[in-house]
Amino acid sequence: MSASILILNGPNLNLLGTRQPEVYGTTTLKDIEDMCEAHGASLGVSVTCVQSNHEGALVDAIHAAKGTHAGIVLNAGAYTHTSIALMDAIASVELPVIELHLSNIHAREKFRHTSYIAPVAIGQICGFGSLGYRMAIDAMVHHIG
Ligand code: DQA
Repeated sequence: MSASILILNGPNLNLLGTRQPEVYGTTTLKDIEDMCEAHGASLGVSVTCVQSNHEGALVDAIHAAKGTHAGIVLNAGAYTHTSIALMDAIASVELPVIELHLSNIHAREKFRHTSYIAPVAIGQICGFGSLGYRMAIDAMVHHIG
């Protein structure tokens, strides 16, 4: 059976394509998810995509990933900057997590410079728009070997 990667997107990312296109681009979440599945297939890994606007549902998805997925690519949206619950969930499941952001959070408002995900992630990719998801899949495939 091939390895499986979970692509987990948080709040407001369902609006990609029309949401502040000057910041997040015009690519839709469906476009990104299709690209992730195709890219995963080209590398021989299966990719599952989940999006939720709810913090608890994201915690549940992280818990459910244990034993199902080899790693998680997580764009936690604004919960990145607030959610100790997501940080604790990641620490609890002990799965490799790559933190992802479309925008360069370090070049934006100060409150976006803090990440509760970063201390429990194996690494962070930000600032490359939708290309970042492809980069994250490459990095995860390399990491899980
Ligand atoms: C984001 C950056 C966050 O600061 C913001 O709250 C988002 C999107 C990104 O992908 O650039 O919702 O995670």
